[in-house]
Amino acid sequence: MKSISFFLLNLPLVLAVPLSSRTDYAIKSSHIAPREWTKLSRADLDHLISLRIGLKQNQFDELERHLYEVSDPNHSRYGQHLSLEDVQGLSAPTEHSCDSVHEWLEGHGITRDHVEYSPAKDWFKMTLPVWQVEKLLDTEYHQYGHENGKQIVRTTQYSLPKSLHNHIDVVQPTNFFGNWKLHSTDSRIADLSVPVEEASVQSSSSSAAAAAAPASCVTGSQAVSLQCLRDFYRTSNYTPQVPKKNYVGTTNYLGQVPSVVDFKAFMTTNRPDANPTYQFTTQLIANASNNQASPGVEADLDVEMVGGFAVPTNFTTYSTGGSPPFNPDQNTPTNTNEPYLTWLDYVLGQKSVPYVITTSYGDDEQTVPLDYAQRVCSELAQLGARGITLLFSSGDSGVGANGTCVSNDGTNKQQFLPAFPASCPYVTTVGGTRDFAPEQVAFDTGNGYVAGSGFSNYFARPDYQQAAVSAYLTTLGTKNQGLYNTTGRAYPDISAQSYRFLVNYMAAPTPVDGTSVASPLAAGILTLINDALIAKGKPTLGFLNPRLYSTNGAGFNDIVTGSSTGCDTAGFPAGKGWDVASGFGTPDFVNIRASLGV
Ligand SMILES: *[C@@H]1O[C@H](CO)[C@@H](O)[C@H](O)[C@H]1NC(C)=O
Ligand SMILES: *[C@@H]1O[C@H](CO)[C@@H](O)[C@H](O)[C@H]1NC(C)=O
Ligand SMILES: *[C@@H]1O[C@H](CO)[C@@H](O)[C@H](O)[C@H]1NC(C)=O
Ligand SMILES: *[C@@H]1O[C@H](CO)[C@@H](O)[C@H](O)[C@H]1NC(C)=O
Ligand SMILES: *[C@@H]1O[C@H](CO)[C@@H](O)[C@H](O)[C@H]1NC(C)=O
Repeated sequence: MKSISFFLLNLPLVLAVPLSSRTDYAIKSSHIAPREWTKLSRADLDHLISLRIGLKQNQFDELERHLYEVSDPNHSRYGQHLSLEDVQGLSAPTEHSCDSVHEWLEGHGITRDHVEYSPAKDWFKMTLPVWQVEKLLDTEYHQYGHENGKQIVRTTQYSLPKSLHNHIDVVQPTNFFGNWKLHSTDSRIADLSVPVEEASVQSSSSSAAAAAAPASCVTGSQAVSLQCLRDFYRTSNYTPQVPKKNYVGTTNYLGQVPSVVDFKAFMTTNRPDANPTYQFTTQLIANASNNQASPGVEADLDVEMVGGFAVPTNFTTYSTGGSPPFNPDQNTPTNTNEPYLTWLDYVLGQKSVPYVITTSYGDDEQTVPLDYAQRVCSELAQLGARGITLLFSSGDSGVGANGTCVSNDGTNKQQFLPAFPASCPYVTTVGGTRDFAPEQVAFDTGNGYVAGSGFSNYFARPDYQQAAVSAYLTTLGTKNQGLYNTTGRAYPDISAQSYRFLVNYMAAPTPVDGTSVASPLAAGILTLINDALIAKGKPTLGFLNPRLYSTNGAGFNDIVTGSSTGCDTAGFPAGKGWDVASGFGTPDFVNIRASLGV
């Protein structure tokens, strides 16, 4: 607050500085407000905004090359992950970019001591009143109301001096409205008294042998226990060998925190073999609260699943503050409503980061401005280059929720709705399955859950998946033509069980559906794989996809039945080999180890 009042006291000085002529400006980014938001009044000009300017990361192409080399099992550098310093060096903007941006800011009275920097100096951050941001970006901010009653201060486009377009990637908060969704759906306990719905297993000509369901998976309660999942994916007989040399993490947003008490009770019931003092550690970022009286079901699910598999491995849960709603009339800085960048800023500056991190949040890709999505995705690549396996859930509405599948560009074109960050090519995206003999693409007619899948409209298909996706598109033929982008990055990459998992939430067993069951489940299994790798002196998995695709999903159970439905269509069917409904399928711990020789 100190620097803010200092700044306001300097108002006359600021106004005396001549502003650059608007003819020097050109639009940098324009994005229509997502349809759930309505434009209300002009923003209060004194309202404060925590502005972030993302400077161009000078050597991103070089960083991407490193990422692919160290992740490609055929390359001589496989497993030689980059250090924090290496990545920061490759992410730093040029001196020239820094000077140009500073010069522009100084022209508006914003001196260097108003600016806070990210560790790689690729983000400049400062708190400014709306009127001044409007001058900097030649734009106008408005208050927008969400149909759920929340309000935020945003604009739909902003401009920059033409000479800065090559020095700045993105400025926020501007036109990203951000309405992150959790990828979990809890079915009420009472639903368990209802018989499990007929699994609509399609007859399949495939000869893929379906794994038999272990005894622990056939419970009278029709819910899925941790023991069932450990048996089914064959980790039950494995004891971590180097848990203190290994590390796994989960992320929480939107005010969610996991409950220490729920976790302890879950472990006591589900892992009586484990040390009862085992706990996750909590890292609170950006003033996140740790309100143990009000835990989140998603946060509980994540720690219970990961801890249930990975105990006694080092385990951190990150809770990042910064989420709507806020009152735009208060004279306090706008919550940037971009907790994801805040989290990235934080972890990208840490020396010690978990080898596997699972995230179960996302947004419709089309509601995220392209420049913002590209920047977040490139920061995820930085973590990948450091050897971190990033898992994201694929979403819970199949190819898009029925009745919602229109474009957001003003034309209302019918189209499937891919999700972000699931669509980022530098992460491993996890879809969902249910049932055991055979597993099939997940759905729950009780609550509308369908495992998510899609083709990005923002990110081109990366080389590593060209062959797999082309083969699938050939089998698909003209089905869904025009509804999806045949050249986009396709997801999910893998899948895992995601139906009626029993979470201990507020001391009650609560069955939960969703790909946010699948992502921490995959994280738990891959963490045990890392344990086996580290114990043998081998590098950890790192960015999984190049290896996954080049081995054709070696060690994963191929899912050949079910579909990722939605958008009032039959969606995308599963099939033999890679398919967009289930990726390469679900992780068999024993077979993946065999494929890695550990
Ligand atoms: C695991 O935690 C221990 C302390 O409990 C620490 O000494 C060790 O460095 C951690 N290992 C990793 C890989 O983070
Ligand atoms: C956290 O809260 C403190 C005190 O309320 C405030 O000074 C600081 O700016 C806040 N930090 C963030 C990142 O919101
Ligand atoms: C969506 O619509 C399809 C086709 O009309 C229907 O089969 C499916 O059950 C619907 N899905 C949901 C979740 O309501
Ligand atoms: C399809 O994806 C490509 C990137 O692969 C993108 O350039 C193009 O604009 C997308 N098409 C549509 C209609 O969004
Ligand atoms: C690695 O080599 C194998 C066999 O030589 C080949 O099938 C695979 O496509 C290669 N992977 C990559 C990523 O080039």
